[in-house]
Amino acid sequence: MSGRLSITDIKLKIPPARNRNNSPKRSLKAMLVKVKFSPENIVVEAEAGEPLLNVAERAGVKIPTGCLSGSCFACEVEMANQPVRACITGVPSQAEVTIALYEDTLW
Ligand code: FES
Repeated sequence: MSGRLSITDIKLKIPPARNRNNSPKRSLKAMLVKVKFSPENIVVEAEAGEPLLNVAERAGVKIPTGCLSGSCFACEVEMANQPVRACITGVPSQAEVTIALYEDTLW
């Protein structure tokens, strides 16, 4: 031994990742949500948190868009009876959700 440290002599102790409750983080399995688009009653599965516009596109549902940043309201739909802007909204973490499309003839 030469008295010099080499990289193999150093052992780092890295604590496990922690979640908000300071308990070790478990691997997350994506929650699947049944998303129903009305009035067409098209149903697709999506991951919780997945952008709503992506889910609509995958389902073949056309949601009008404009700014894609949440300021023009062109993409407004109704989710659980509340208006939301699809371009800045993700699929909620619940078993199923209904997205109602507005029929606005001006857009
Ligand atoms: S596209 Fe403008 S608010 Fe969504």
